Amino acid sequence: MKFKITKKIIMGIVTGLIIVVIAIQFVTVERTNPPVTGEINVTPELKSVLQKSCYDCHSNETVWPWYSKVAPVSWLVSKDVVEGREELNFSEWDKYTEKKRAKKMKEIIEEIDKGDMPMTIYTFMHNNAVLTEKEKELIKNWANEFKAQDDSILNNNLD
Ligand code: HEC
Repeated sequence: MKFKITKKIIMGIVTGLIIVVIAIQFVTVERTNPPVTGEINVTPELKSVLQKSCYDCHSNETVWPWYSKVAPVSWLVSKDVVEGREELNFSEWDKYTEKKRAKKMKEIIEEIDKGDMPMTIYTFMHNNAVLTEKEKELIKNWANEFKAQDDSILNNNLD
């Protein structure tokens, strides 16, 4: 069968797409900022670095930009925030045991060294979130110091 792409078919596809885009806006996603129960205790300098590069996914103070409210982008953003908070939440630091804190510090150093955080999909929209060498050092020095304090606990009891 020969298939001819007519204006009518194109219009049909476009209309279909518009309907789908409108319909998916009704799928609700998690986009809340739960209360901050125990903020991490760091210097103002380090805090501002973490805030600009990590807080949108690793705190309860996420800034939700307009595109984070439009599906399907909202699904991706919400997923990163939910998973990010699950892994590491600077707003619920009080809920972590000493052992868990030390483990998180080790992971932070690893992520910074690998250059995996902040995620590329994020820095694409947030250019200023890219860490400079100086900022990487600042985070790593802090994490190392923190980790060293708790290394004995961690080595005795790894989970
Ligand atoms: C766009 C959201 C986003 C930003 C911004 C972000 N992260 Fe993440 N982070 C995630 C997600 C999602 C995960 C869980 C999935 C994974 O490990 O890739 C994660 C996981 C982690 C982990 C745990 C990795 C492991 O070993 O399991 C650490 C540590 C971490 N991030 C540190 C940071 C630091 C430090 C920053 C800032 C410099 C940062 N992240 C910025 C989304 C983000």
